[in-house]
Amino acid sequence: MKLLFICAVFCSFHVSLANDLFKFIDISWGDGRGQMLNNNELLMLGLDRGSGSGFQSKNEYLFAKVQMHIKLVPGNSAGTVTTFFLTSKGEYHDEIDFEFLGNTSGNPYILHTNVFSQGVGNREMQFYLWFDPTADFHTYTIFWNTQHIVFYVDEIPIREFKNFEDKGVSFPQYQAMRLHSSLWEADDWATRGGLEKIDWSQAPFRAYYKNFSEDGCFWFNGYSSCTPNSNSWLWANFDYEYAKKSQMKWAQDNYMIYNYCQDTKRFPQGFPLECYLNTY
Ligand SMILES: *[C@@H]1O[C@H](CO)[C@@H](O)[C@H](O)[C@H]1NC(C)=O
Ligand SMILES: *[C@@H]1O[C@H](CO)[C@@H](O)[C@H](O)[C@H]1NC(C)=O
Repeated sequence: MKLLFICAVFCSFHVSLANDLFKFIDISWGDGRGQMLNNNELLMLGLDRGSGSGFQSKNEYLFAKVQMHIKLVPGNSAGTVTTFFLTSKGEYHDEIDFEFLGNTSGNPYILHTNVFSQGVGNREMQFYLWFDPTADFHTYTIFWNTQHIVFYVDEIPIREFKNFEDKGVSFPQYQAMRLHSSLWEADDWATRGGLEKIDWSQAPFRAYYKNFSEDGCFWFNGYSSCTPNSNSWLWANFDYEYAKKSQMKWAQDNYMIYNYCQDTKRFPQGFPLECYLNTY
């Protein structure tokens, strides 16, 4: 691997668990619809007829564990999408996505996930959640190291995308990514495939964020600098961890509603290669 991990004496990072979101995050668009509240401990994104809004991390990462507590738009959120994702720039970009598709009151959100490497996505997996994500804050984590990408919800792994690059599946590991999050309108596809339109009389729609944490390798000017703490997880995989695998099995058996690796209509000629390499 052509990566340079530098963490010499001058390396002064620590795992950042801080309540001051302003240290880590910039509100990037939305003309005032995104705001930091309560001494920057709480971030609110808003969506109305005029625009949605979004924020991004100040740092870029080349392998990271990023986590945030999110409370989604309550009530009739049909047609709204709240996102939380890492992405690199450019045409052959890498991306790791959480997208929360709203619904009419009392009907379940869909948690939509995807992984792009070198510009290629089409790796959607979707889930219902085992709780009401609008009633309280829950923890959503993107874990991205040299061995795999894992999506966690409240510390439960729901999806793993392994590094099978040695078997010919490209894996995000050469491009730095930044965290982005947004609240926007997507009523042409989000809810029941676009059947439920957004109800603007409910606007402004609002999602709340707090307690951001980031750890890993930070990317500055072409160099990657890893926190001392990240040594403990940068090379780890959970192939042999029975507890994590059984939690993931629980989430997938009970809450997964779509898996591209099972969609024969969409891939009549055969599934993407990684679908055959996952052996559990
Ligand atoms: C919305 O609710 C309907 C009915 O329960 C369900 O079929 C659908 O999966 C839910 N979620 C979205 C985002 O459409
Ligand atoms: C913030 O998140 C960390 C884990 O990232 C957790 O240990 C801590 O309890 C959380 N704090 C609050 C106030 O929720």
